[in-house]
Amino acid sequence: MSMTASPAAGRSFPMCARSHKSSNVARRARMGVRSNLLSFAPILIDLQRDCATPLPLLRHVADSMTADMRAGLVVDGGSDLKMILTYVDNLPTGNEKGIFYALDLGGTNFRVLRVQLGGKEERVVATEFDQVSIPQEFMFGTSEALFDFIASGLAKFVQKEGGKFHLPNGRTREIGFTFSFPVKQTSIDSGILIKWTKGFAVSGTAGKDVVSCLNEAMQRQGTDMRVSALVNDTVGTLAGARYWDDDVMVAVILGTGTNACYIERVDSIPKLQGQKSTSGRTIVNTEWGAFSNGLPLSKFDRQMDADSINPGEQIFEKTISGMYLGEIVRRVLVNMAEAADLFGEHASTKLSMPFILGTPHISAMQQDSSKHLEAVGSILYDVVGVDSNVNARKIVWEVCDTIAKRGGRLAGAGIVGILQKMEEDSKGTIYGKRTVVAMDGGLYEHYPHYRKYLQDAVNELLGSEVSKNIVIEHSKDGSGIGAALLAATNSKYEH
Ligand code: BGC
Repeated sequence: MSMTASPAAGRSFPMCARSHKSSNVARRARMGVRSNLLSFAPILIDLQRDCATPLPLLRHVADSMTADMRAGLVVDGGSDLKMILTYVDNLPTGNEKGIFYALDLGGTNFRVLRVQLGGKEERVVATEFDQVSIPQEFMFGTSEALFDFIASGLAKFVQKEGGKFHLPNGRTREIGFTFSFPVKQTSIDSGILIKWTKGFAVSGTAGKDVVSCLNEAMQRQGTDMRVSALVNDTVGTLAGARYWDDDVMVAVILGTGTNACYIERVDSIPKLQGQKSTSGRTIVNTEWGAFSNGLPLSKFDRQMDADSINPGEQIFEKTISGMYLGEIVRRVLVNMAEAADLFGEHASTKLSMPFILGTPHISAMQQDSSKHLEAVGSILYDVVGVDSNVNARKIVWEVCDTIAKRGGRLAGAGIVGILQKMEEDSKGTIYGKRTVVAMDGGLYEHYPHYRKYLQDAVNELLGSEVSKNIVIEHSKDGSGIGAALLAATNSKYEH
C-alpha cells in the first residue's frame, strides 16, 4: 500500500500518460491516411442532433428530476429515483474530538483514512491514508473474497497507528464506512445492497447488509472495530463540506459513477410515515444515476447500454459519468472508421476493444488547442493504434466535444432539478441566499470543458441573478473526512 495523495476511490479516473510522438504521427498522417470530411459528416451530424441539449430540453430534464424526486419521496419504487433515507439527521458541528477512521469503497480503489479531530478550535489535527487498487478478480468474484481483501488492507493500516494519533485506553476504534453503491439503509450503521453499479459484479452481496459483510471479514482478520456510520460517498462529501461551510445543501459526485444527495425537510418526505428527526431535516441520497426521463440518447448509447452488465439501468449515469464517456466516443469512432474510413483503410483491432478509450483520454484530446491537434494524434496512435490526419483529428475532437457537452449540460440540469425542488418547498431560502453545491469526483476535477458546460447549463437555467447565489464548489476528498466526522457524530462515546 502506498501513501499517495490521489483522488478518492470510486470518484476518480486515472489520468492517461500523454506522450507526444507528434513528428511520427504527423509523418504517418501525411503518408497515406485518406480522409474525406464529407464522408463522416452524416454520422457527426446525426450524433450532434441526437445529443443536442438546447435550453427547453434541459428545462424538461430539470423538471422531470424534480418530479421524480417527489414521486420517490412518497413511496419506495415511486420513480426511477430511489430517494434513499440515510439516517443522517445531524451533521457535524465542529465539536467532534478524537481519533476516527474511514473506509471508502466505491470504485477501482479503496481507501482507508485515520483522522485526529480537535474540536472547534483545532478542527482536523492530522490525517493519514492509504489507497489500494482492487484487482479485477475481486470486482467479479465473491462477496467474501472482496470484503476479506478490504478488511486485510484495513487491518494493515490500523497496525501503523501511532505518532499524533492517540486512542484512549479501552476504547474501540470507530469507523465511517463509505460504500458508494445503492444501499437501502436500515439505520445509520446498517444497510442492504440493492445492486452493484460501475462495472462491479460481485456475487452474494446484493440483498445483504454490507456492514455485516465488513464486520464478518474484520472478525476473520482479528480486527476489532465498530462501524458507527454507513454512508454513501455523496453523503460523506456533504458532511465533509458542511463541516467548513454552513451554506452547503447539496453534494454531487461526478467520477466513475454519479450521484447526488441533499438536505431535505422531514415534513416533505411522506414515506417517512411520522418517523421523527431531532433536527427536522435529514439527508436524502437520490441515486440519480438511475434517472432516465427525457434524456437525449443516440444509437451509440443504446448499443452501449445493451452490451453492458446492467442493461436498462443507470441511464443518466451512462450518459454523464466518467466510466462511460470515453466508451461512447470509441463507439462513434468505430462507426466512422468502418463506414467512412476515418483512419484510413487499415482497421485497428485496438479500437474495437470496449473501454480502451477512457474519459481521461477524451479530456486530454479536448484540451489540445494546437493547429494540427498533435496531442489528439498521439493519443489516437498510442491508445487505439490508429494513424490520423488533421481532418480526422478535428472530427475526433468534435465527437469528444459533443459527448462531453451533453454530459456536462445534463449534469447541470440535474443539479437545477434538485435546487428547484428545494426552492419550491422552502419558498425562497435556496435561490434567495448563498447556497453551495459541493462537488467531488475525477470527472469534474480533471475535465475543464465538461465543468464549463455544466456551469453554463446551470446559469442558463437559473438566469444570471439566481445563479450568482448558487456556488458550485469542488470539495476535494471531503467524503473520507466526512465519513470519519459522521462516525464521530454517531460515536457511542461522548466527546
Ligand atoms: C452509485 C452511487 C454512488 C455513485 C458515485 C453510483 O454508481 O450508485 O451510490 O454515489 O456511483 O460514486
